[in-house]
Amino acid sequence: MNFLYYFAGDDGSMLRALQEALQSGEHEHSIFDASDSSTPYQRDRIDAAICWQPPADFFDGLTNLNCVYALAAGVDQLLKHPGLPTTIDIIRLRDAGMSQQMAEYVLYGVLRAQRQFHEFDVAQHNSSWIHGGCVQRASDTHVGILGAGVLATAVATRLRANDYPVTCWSRTSHELPSGIAHIHGADQLPNFLAQCQVLVCLLALTDDTFGILNTACFDQLPSGAFVINCARGQHMNDADLLNALDSGQLSGAMLDVFHHEPLDGSHPFWNHPRVLVTPHEAARSLPEKSVAQVIASIKQVAKGETPAGLVDRSRGY
Ligand code: NAP
Ligand code: GLV
Repeated sequence: MNFLYYFAGDDGSMLRALQEALQSGEHEHSIFDASDSSTPYQRDRIDAAICWQPPADFFDGLTNLNCVYALAAGVDQLLKHPGLPTTIDIIRLRDAGMSQQMAEYVLYGVLRAQRQFHEFDVAQHNSSWIHGGCVQRASDTHVGILGAGVLATAVATRLRANDYPVTCWSRTSHELPSGIAHIHGADQLPNFLAQCQVLVCLLALTDDTFGILNTACFDQLPSGAFVINCARGQHMNDADLLNALDSGQLSGAMLDVFHHEPLDGSHPFWNHPRVLVTPHEAARSLPEKSVAQVIASIKQVAKGETPAGLVDRSRGY
């Protein structure tokens, strides 16, 4: 098979790992790097693509393409790519080393909120000594996670292990590890939000979840709640977040994802005393785990089986 590869921001390690795996004795595949113009290839002989954030012309002339292996958990950008053929299968990464990193990222944010480190940051900025407040316990800090998928489940498990009561909210009902509360459906969202002292967004980005972090959502949270968005920037209404922070309805936010990345230097989030910005680094797919997953999926597709990461294009994730 012939594969076309593109990975925005690759340091070379993902491509090397793929080349090793695809061109080993066991497999007889060729992989072409779309960003390397020195190696010619015939676009109409490409069978499948392996990519993350491909450029606008990436799919042009790929008349024989039958599958895209997305090197990411979220496929919202890929599904919106104007050149993506409408009928081919998309297979995404599941975990691929990201669960553990995401669990660490969210645990850090939840600890900040619970122990009020975000308040200490503001106080330090004002040279203010705010000794003597009461210490809130982890077991009294309710965390709500929007999402109950691969990453949300790993995050919830880690938070439970650290004593936090956790509830996940998702579109459908399904089993989660014991100790993690789970509710689903749009009609249950108000009940869910009412109890979240810390709200974490780990939803897939779809038409239904676009802008879900907005004034209506923030107003239903307990006063002084803290918000962590590590899914997609488009889940957040930026102006609504700034209003909720400035009114005191929210005490702080930790944001890893933004409408436009890199975040514009003039965006008010950069200098807001109650916003912690991280540069879409909450969790990265690890080359060896990603490649193992892609290879396993290629074998499953070849045998006519359904890989676990097959995207349901009608639901958008
Ligand atoms: P996943 O397993 O597909 O989980 C997506 C979750 O979203 C599912 O629980 C799904 O509900 C829920 N959902 C979708 N539409 C919904 C709706 N209308 N109402 C309620 N829930 C809805 O994806 P994942 O692997 O956990 O990844 C989650 C997201 O994290 C990705 O899409 C990506 O945007 C983001 N991400 C960010 C980083 C980073 O570094 N910041 C890294 C990796 C991924 P059901 O369970 O009912 O299907
Ligand atoms: C990263 O944001 C991903 O979706 O894998």
